[in-house]
Amino acid sequence: MSRIKIFDTTLRDGEQSPGVNLNKAEKLEIAKQLEKYGVDRMEAGFPASSKGDFESVKQIASTIKNSSVIALARAVKSDIDTAYEALKGAEKPAIHIFLATSPIHMTYKLKKSPEQVIETAVNMVAYAKERFDEIEWSAEDATRSDWNFLAQIIEKVIEAGATVINLPDTVGYTTPEEYGKLFRFIKETVSNIDQVALSCHCHNDLGMAVANSIAAVENGATQVEGTINGIGERAGNAALEEVVVALKIRSDYYPFETGLNLKETKRTSDLVAKLTGMYVQANKAVIGRNAFSHESGIHQDGVLKNTETYEIITPEMVGVSSNTLFLGKHSGRHAFKDKLKEFGVELSEKELKTAFDQFKLLTDQKKEVTDDDLYTILMDIKTDS
Ligand code: KIV
Ligand code: ZN
Repeated sequence: MSRIKIFDTTLRDGEQSPGVNLNKAEKLEIAKQLEKYGVDRMEAGFPASSKGDFESVKQIASTIKNSSVIALARAVKSDIDTAYEALKGAEKPAIHIFLATSPIHMTYKLKKSPEQVIETAVNMVAYAKERFDEIEWSAEDATRSDWNFLAQIIEKVIEAGATVINLPDTVGYTTPEEYGKLFRFIKETVSNIDQVALSCHCHNDLGMAVANSIAAVENGATQVEGTINGIGERAGNAALEEVVVALKIRSDYYPFETGLNLKETKRTSDLVAKLTGMYVQANKAVIGRNAFSHESGIHQDGVLKNTETYEIITPEMVGVSSNTLFLGKHSGRHAFKDKLKEFGVELSEKELKTAFDQFKLLTDQKKEVTDDDLYTILMDIKTDS
């Protein structure tokens, strides 16, 4: 099994979600939970972007010991200096420098020729190397860049001292097959690529961020970047909990492992949802409220006989206490009877039939029958008998 590193950017790219603004104490709380979750690297922020971000990165850097703490910087000296100052107290500091490589970004945003972009990238990585051992360099908008140009610039930034090369799908434009091919191409074309770690960073504009990340790993990426609950700019980033659980559940197919403590998944997700105010959709994979709920009678019956009939992930694996049988109009007698056990009430066959009939009547009026509803039905039956 090869070990894939997990780079969490909830506190940087995730915090760029519209409407999200975490304060220093909240960021520290999330950072501590990410450390417990076992992320290899956490991007704590972009210190040059604001005084608040600088202070927050500084505090996280001096608190977190087991994960490498990373600061983002543009390819300019002042950003690199500010990141260096913010990370001074860190046990395992690293800088992440990004510079766009796609024609559209180079022409309109940077107003630089490809040659100037290479020169800037090389100079800034060399400048950072005087301060940092670990340097990640990102080719922003890599998936809309010319592949030969990418190979050329990557070779040069590695010579200048980069230790991780990241190929972001900045606008969520790529597809699994294409992104996989890009990684393979870079692995096969860049002569010094084996000296560095290769990273993927996917956005979810077309809903393919997780699939794209897995395709990258299959084709040579040794690090996956993403956020908890998939929060981030626009449609968000790759949801890390989905990537790691997919690799784990399909370890028969993917020979990769991560160092994450999966039992902390739900706790991490809940904390991020609570502090960002970005609540998770009920049907979200792995951590959504319905991910371990079963409503149809056939499914409920199957799960009661053997959970593996309709569950490929055990709730315990990701720190969810148990699955739930959602009692609604599709539920059958077996699930209903099982639920009644929780109330500790013994019913005769006749009482059970009456209770089940009343429950079915109620499901035509309500989407979900709650414990209170069931209790009322049971009390009515017991008082009548
Ligand atoms: O999506 C992106 O390109 C980024 C960079 C800063 C790496 O987040
Ligand atoms: Zn991003």
